Amino acid sequence: MKIDLGRKTILYPMPVLMVGTYDKKDKPDLMAAAWGGIFNDNMVCLCLDRNHKTVANLKEHKAFTVGVADAKHVTECDYVGIVSANDEPDKLDKANLTAVKSTRVDAPVIDELPLTLECQLVSYDDNTEQAVGNIINVIADDSILTGGKVDPAKLKAITYDPVNHTYIQLGEVVGKAFSDGKKLQ
Ligand SMILES: Cc1cc2nc3c(=O)[nH]c(=O)nc-3n(C[C@H](O)[C@H](O)[C@H](O)COP(=O)(O)O)c2cc1C
Repeated sequence: MKIDLGRKTILYPMPVLMVGTYDKKDKPDLMAAAWGGIFNDNMVCLCLDRNHKTVANLKEHKAFTVGVADAKHVTECDYVGIVSANDEPDKLDKANLTAVKSTRVDAPVIDELPLTLECQLVSYDDNTEQAVGNIINVIADDSILTGGKVDPAKLKAITYDPVNHTYIQLGEVVGKAFSDGKKLQ
């Protein structure tokens, strides 16, 4: 039996994307975004509330980074998703996170996060609140690589559960993409 749950923002998995920007005075900011993901080849699309400091920042610098939240930094990542830099100017220090300037885009890379996308802003639409970014480069900490490739078992990325408001660590491999389906071809 199928049950209607109504018109709700429910989807699994939802990512926990950590959006890094600089403000007018080059002070770093970081926020959490679950409404977003890969949009096209080498592009991301995020739904960012126009009142967030992050939005003013990315409009100013035309760049942002997207770090992947991991199980090791749940508290820090949740904190920056609760507190706005509009209210707490020392948000990153309070979160005990370290911002390092990206060499490719005008945005901060968060040292503690093991996987980061460096993005050039393509557009921000004030009506739809959609930010589109062009991925210029991906930075991975060598601690999450196996044989030079990102290893999800080491990355320990977390997803946001929009029903129970919890974070869930990505788990086991259950299949091979572009491969398992061939059994039915
Ligand atoms: C799990 C989680 C997911 C969130 N997803 C989004 C999102 O997709 N878009 C958004 O605009 N805000 C989202 N937020 C809220 C912002 O991260 C939050 O308002 C933040 O304080 C904004 O910071 P800023 O004003 O310094 O940019 C989310 C918060 C949490 C905890």
